[in-house]
Amino acid sequence: MADLVQYRSTPDEGLDCLYLATAEGVPPLDGLALDKAEHKAIAKTVVELGVHGHEGEVLVTASPVKGFRRIACFGIGKADGFAVNALRKLLRRVLEQAGKNREYQIAVALPFAPRDVDPAQARAVALAELALADYRFDRFRSRPDEATKVDGVHVVPLAGESEAELDALLGRAERVDELVRLARDLGNRPGNDLTPERFAADVAELFAKSAVRVTVMGRKELEKDGLRGILAVGSGSVQEPCLLRLEYRAKKPRAAVVLIGKGVTFDSGGISIKPAAEMAEMKHDMAGAAAVVAAMRAVAEDQPPLKVVGLVPLVENLPSGTAVKPGDILQMANGLTVEVDNTDAEGRIIVADAMAYAAHFNPDIMVDLATLTGACRIALGNELAGLFANDDALAAQIENLGRRTGDRVWRLPLLPEYREHLRSEWADMKNSGGRVGSLPSSAAFLERFVPEGVRWAHLDIAGVAHLPRGHNGLPAGATGFGVRLLLALLEDVAEKV
Ligand code: BES
Ligand code: MN
Ligand code: ZN
Repeated sequence: MADLVQYRSTPDEGLDCLYLATAEGVPPLDGLALDKAEHKAIAKTVVELGVHGHEGEVLVTASPVKGFRRIACFGIGKADGFAVNALRKLLRRVLEQAGKNREYQIAVALPFAPRDVDPAQARAVALAELALADYRFDRFRSRPDEATKVDGVHVVPLAGESEAELDALLGRAERVDELVRLARDLGNRPGNDLTPERFAADVAELFAKSAVRVTVMGRKELEKDGLRGILAVGSGSVQEPCLLRLEYRAKKPRAAVVLIGKGVTFDSGGISIKPAAEMAEMKHDMAGAAAVVAAMRAVAEDQPPLKVVGLVPLVENLPSGTAVKPGDILQMANGLTVEVDNTDAEGRIIVADAMAYAAHFNPDIMVDLATLTGACRIALGNELAGLFANDDALAAQIENLGRRTGDRVWRLPLLPEYREHLRSEWADMKNSGGRVGSLPSSAAFLERFVPEGVRWAHLDIAGVAHLPRGHNGLPAGATGFGVRLLLALLEDVAEKV
């Protein structure tokens, strides 16, 4: 991760390059706070270079001022059509090019804000994306690509942006960067590296000596508390399942929030095994868990006036002689019985057990994040997470925060009719209703495990949590979706209650 610092005119040592975003019909450098002489000289050079600002235009020239060696102009097209996706693509290209050119210290001038997020947050969103633009998962590369490591990114202030304001923005961007990277790094680790036990141990280490208390509930504790859904899904693997509990409590908490993240470290589908072609990407099936861990990390640092509990059920879903089978009937933590119709609908079983268990913490609000259904990805693609909620105000709050943070969501219906899909001949319900309505019926399943009186929201992040290949400036693999949304939600709840 490159350092984000504020650009100051005439730095001690000249920077390698100034990357300047330009738009059609906007005078280059408009809206930037540069020293007068510097501004004038650069503007002249850039105009002479013939910059139009068309989308995809890249023009490079020698710098007329001492501050930089070169100036690279990147066109964004029309400023009013500039969106987060385009911003990310632009920033990734900038950092890639800088790396290829072996530039270690660069300046970035970004006088345009993305239009598809709340204007008050647009600068913060842009700077966080800038910090994340060089993210790559190279834990398993024996020779990480050193060419792409820029050390310092000097951000040119905008007109009217004070030094203190920009400093605060940069600090926040670096923090978001750190937390999203944490979630991505967890989400990208393959099944052989990140087993349930390893996940729990690494997280316990992460929170050692922090304000968050970590408890790993193993087989014995799961049995004692009746979390048989988690046990059943984990029973096909030699890797033991567990429930990771991350607890934080302020002295006088204003509200209690429980966050739940699906943590299937690998999902083969179990006995209802998946086709080979789609299987490898199921190493990312713990992206919800990763987002919750990152959010709890922020809680440990900020210590908000809340009670916040993270619950992360961790399992590996494999077929074997000891695996749970279609037709098996499980009694879940809240006493309901579930007929396993399809062992590949495992996420809802472990999340439901954790939701029932959450009653111990008397939550006011409960939010779960899960890569739950392929249908959600089919319906909403990589752009939006599916949102289901039993409370309109909570749903609206999350929709708004989605627009503010860029972790966008789309609300879908939670109707009692969908429970019919899950009717079982032998138990209180089945875990799958088949293909028709499989997205809303997955939420209808979870709803039955919401403890009485709890405001609950479910985020199906199957389409947004990981990408098979780089897309819209996001790298292939885990995206860290949900981290920013959860941070914003916790802040909002702490302020409003
Ligand atoms: N982890 C998968 C869902 C998934 C699919 C996430 C593709 C990301 C990309 C989940 O456990 C699953 O297998 N769901 C099944 C449920 C079905 C059997 C009712 C699905 O969606 O096919
Ligand atoms: Mn599955
Ligand atoms: Zn799964």
